[in-house]
Amino acid sequence: MDKPKIYITRKLPKEIINNLEEYFIISMWQEEDVPVPRDVLLENVKDIDGLFCLLTEDINKELLDKAPNLKIISNMAVGYNNVDVEEAKKRNIIVTNTPGVLTETTADLTFTLLMTAARRIVEASSYLNEGNWKTWSPMQLTGQDIHGATLGIIGLGRIGEALVKRAKGFDMNIIYNNREPKPEKERELGIQYRDLNSLLKESDFVCILIPYSPNVYHLIGEKELSMMKSTAVLVNTARGGIVNESALYNALKNGVIWGAGLDVFEKEPVSLDHPLLTLKNVVTLPHIGSASINTRLKMAELASNNLIKVLSGEEPITPVS
Ligand code: GLV
Repeated sequence: MDKPKIYITRKLPKEIINNLEEYFIISMWQEEDVPVPRDVLLENVKDIDGLFCLLTEDINKELLDKAPNLKIISNMAVGYNNVDVEEAKKRNIIVTNTPGVLTETTADLTFTLLMTAARRIVEASSYLNEGNWKTWSPMQLTGQDIHGATLGIIGLGRIGEALVKRAKGFDMNIIYNNREPKPEKERELGIQYRDLNSLLKESDFVCILIPYSPNVYHLIGEKELSMMKSTAVLVNTARGGIVNESALYNALKNGVIWGAGLDVFEKEPVSLDHPLLTLKNVVTLPHIGSASINTRLKMAELASNNLIKVLSGEEPITPVS
């Protein structure tokens, strides 16, 4: 029997390809840092059985209409808002993601961003490099304390829980908001549930860790930001669309909140003339939450194994629900 055909939308490390080659006839976009052009992608899905894609590809009805043989969409990310899951379901196409393997790494980055924004690390480093450091002075580059502060986590999923562990080490007081309260986790982790407004009012740091769906588009806007403390820091490592960026810009510029750490933007890559990039009290990163060597390899491996399982007639390891 002929091997199934797959298309891979970005150049992957050799060890991942070597494994996939045993099972599949592979076509792959050969660039590492440039996404596959839409017309090339649409042309390449015509006769494939499986698709290995990234969060940079919009896997929508238009694409699915062009891929009549497709049986699995394997997204190398935990978030899958780039895939029209309903359309896939109508066609009996399985959609998989890569949860679990990136939890700890993404929690590490979320806490890093929180600390970096709180202690003005990027600004302080530029201050030195730009030759502004003339002396030590009492209130120079002073930031916010992390230890003993209240951390509000929006979204107590795997990454939210992993963030709790880090925050505990800094003696933080931890509150959370989630679609469903989780009383068992509250007992286990020593944290407390709050409705969203109370969380925003009480927190010194607010970390957004919910999956994106149209229901949470601009969940954090002008009204929500105005409820936060003027000393508070907002950290978003989930998806850019959850925060209204122009409201955030105004809040940061006018001292409504004190700072922000952003790993994600509504439009990625964020444009270099985006107003948020002009503010000193924002730390910006290019969507690197899960970007450790080990974790990215594990994500690629899990995404590959989902393809292998499904196209051998077995159950996927991590289907999206
Ligand atoms: C990254 O943002 C992911 O969803 O894995």
